[in-house]
Amino acid sequence: MNKKLNYFSTVKFLSKYILAYKKNYIMFAIGWLFDILLSIFTPIMFAVMIDEIVYYQNVPVFLKISIALVIMILFACIVHFFTQQQYAYLQIMYAFEIKNDLFNAVQYAKAEALTDMQAGDALNTIQSHAFECMVFVIRNIIHTLNNFFALILYIIYIFVIGWQFGLLMLVGIPLSVYATVKFGKVTRKCNDEYNAVYGKYSGWLMEGLSALQDIRLLNAQEVTEKKFIGFQKNLFHRENQNSVIKLSSQNVVQTINFLVQMSVYALCAYYACRGEMTIGVLTIILNFFTNIKGKVIFFSNCFIEAQMRISRIQRVYDLFHLPSEKDWKGKDRLDITDGKIEFHKITFGYKDTQDLFQEFSINIEGGQKVALVGKSGSGKTTLAYMLAGFYKPREGSIAIDGRDISDCSLKSLRQNVGIVQQDVLIFDGTIRSNLLLGKKDASEQEIMEAYERAGLGEFIRSLDDGIDTVIGTKGVGLSGGQKQRIAIARIYLKNPQIIVFDEATSALDNETEALIHDSWKNALVGRTAIVISHRLSSVMMCERTAVIEDGVLLEYGSTKEMLENSNALKTLFAIS
Ligand SMILES: Nc1ncnc2c1ncn2[C@@H]1O[C@H](COP(=O)(O)OP(=O)(O)OP(=O)(O)O)[C@@H](O)[C@H]1O
Ligand SMILES: [Mg+2]
Repeated sequence: MNKKLNYFSTVKFLSKYILAYKKNYIMFAIGWLFDILLSIFTPIMFAVMIDEIVYYQNVPVFLKISIALVIMILFACIVHFFTQQQYAYLQIMYAFEIKNDLFNAVQYAKAEALTDMQAGDALNTIQSHAFECMVFVIRNIIHTLNNFFALILYIIYIFVIGWQFGLLMLVGIPLSVYATVKFGKVTRKCNDEYNAVYGKYSGWLMEGLSALQDIRLLNAQEVTEKKFIGFQKNLFHRENQNSVIKLSSQNVVQTINFLVQMSVYALCAYYACRGEMTIGVLTIILNFFTNIKGKVIFFSNCFIEAQMRISRIQRVYDLFHLPSEKDWKGKDRLDITDGKIEFHKITFGYKDTQDLFQEFSINIEGGQKVALVGKSGSGKTTLAYMLAGFYKPREGSIAIDGRDISDCSLKSLRQNVGIVQQDVLIFDGTIRSNLLLGKKDASEQEIMEAYERAGLGEFIRSLDDGIDTVIGTKGVGLSGGQKQRIAIARIYLKNPQIIVFDEATSALDNETEALIHDSWKNALVGRTAIVISHRLSSVMMCERTAVIEDGVLLEYGSTKEMLENSNALKTLFAIS
């Protein structure tokens, strides 16, 4: 469980983005400081002009100040333009950096963290919650700091004019702050609840949209519609609650400000009646008071909004702090000579579940093809994932050519271990771009060899655009078998020394499977292959077979002999 963010820890968490663009921030801050000084000097100069004309009819001084004001305001326009330019740039860059970091955090998250994460929720966090971080940096850090500085200057000046007015401010401001903080706490709670529901909703919606076909097949439209309406009502109710709290808070703060304003007017009236206040000074006080009121309302709104934002930023923070593969300790390069694999007394269980393997061992000689069979759920895929470094055994070790894989870098490990998975992921794009994921600089010849070997040649030649045909959601749909063959061609291009075929031919017809088995014979020479399969034809391709059950290596030996003598294998494949 990550720590719960509050205002200050959020500032600390996000301030690194301000530091990353220090130069632009300093330029923006200087421009802004100029704006503040202008907002202080302009009313003072106006006041002097009024007093000089009303009380002394001093036209030359009036004119001089007017000209100075015009020059100042023209200069301010130019400064303002550059300040706004920096501001727009900072906004874009903060959002860019935050999204980049988030995407990286998800991209490198450990496998166990990914299984807990709903893709819809992560998408929402990267797209909209990252924006909230940027707004927080701009409004709740930069503007708040700047406005705070401005507020102090105004108050000091008001004290210089008259301590009575300064005291009034010092009574009014804490009252507003108190009301704001009180409302802020309620807001945060409501928003945490809203965001939790929203996260669940977006995860659910994304899953639902990607499974529309299954929903229809199950005739489950009414159930999903009810759930959708349920989510909407829940979210609407919470949104309503949030806006009521925000409005109440604004009203209370405005009422307090109004009362302080009336007191200031009364005090001004009192001094004016006694002839102790000129019209000029009166305008300065009223002007500064309006400014101070604006700043207090800004702080109040900002604080309430911050509470809403922090509960979204919390999700960004949690994503940032997912356990990462970058913490993998191994740094050495794994260079394979034989491709010998040893699982030595490994103990492993998924989070919150019983151990799947206890002191499990198996040795696979380099260059061998080994079939790994066992009932569904017996842990075959898990073994492949551990070999690729997705999960680490709690005890024991996995070695390739005598090197413990935890001492090797994940990059070199995955260069040498390729897995063709049960569920093949095809990216939107051409067949070529999908194949090039295996080797980004593959030559035309290499690509052709790979797809021919994977049994895709005939299919590709039947397409008008051949290898440049667009596939995926925006292009030609592919059958399960075609997807698997693309994954197999991809692995051929990647050319790892160790290949795991995890049910890689389960979606293929017998003819294509035979074709692929044929191509394995050449492609796998000198490589170690683990073939995980529920099909006897795939098992028969391999020299050796390992049967696992309940995390135990039940039998392991030559496939030929086991097909004759092994009861475990015969039972599994219902061979009499
Ligand atoms: N991410 C996960 N979190 C928790 N438990 C998991 C996870 N992945 C798999 N399991 C559990 O671990 C066990 C082994 O799963 P695994 O996918 O390795 O089985 P398998 O032998 O490959 O099965 P199949 O033949 O159906 O593909 C199963 O009981 C499964 O429910
Ligand atoms: Mg499996």
